Amino acid sequence: MKKIILLGYMGSGKTTIGQILAKRLNLPFLDLDKIIEEKTKLSISDIFEQKGEIYFRKLEHQLFSEIMNEKQSVVLSLGGGTPCYANNYLLLNGDNIVSIYLRASINTLFDRLSSTKTNRPLIAETEETEMKEFIAKHLFDRSFFYNQATFSVDVNDKLKESIIDEILYKLA
Ligand code: S3P
Repeated sequence: MKKIILLGYMGSGKTTIGQILAKRLNLPFLDLDKIIEEKTKLSISDIFEQKGEIYFRKLEHQLFSEIMNEKQSVVLSLGGGTPCYANNYLLLNGDNIVSIYLRASINTLFDRLSSTKTNRPLIAETEETEMKEFIAKHLFDRSFFYNQATFSVDVNDKLKESIIDEILYKLA
């Protein structure tokens, strides 16, 4: 049994890289946000709006714990905040668990998130002019948790395939 967990800030590529990585490793792929959406039959934005962030964080913790307790091999992409709440980062410590921080710079995240922020409740209302500072502060607050990962991969200005190759090399 092996669990490979992808973590990192919103827009760092967790879902995209996770899907490709799972295919290359011939493992099932799970996306925590998607599981939360399926369970609640609501989009992440609607959960935040209708039920609030605390509800989301509790459910995120519960479902993440359940997956980590299953004896199934899997590639799992977390939400950007998952390791930073409810001591979730401690669940990354077990045997046969490898966690990978997809490390993106503030500029990379700003470029990617400016065009895709509407479905991300934490930044949907943030003005373009304030976005870079918001990301910088938020990333600073979260870095401690992201740096608990087994290893990190710099994803700036890289093709998906070279990020995958780097991960596979480090996993070998
Ligand atoms: C969040 C990131 C989102 C989603 C939710 C909260 C966060 O996932 O879980 O909107 O706290 O950073 P992505 O990182 O996949 O956008």
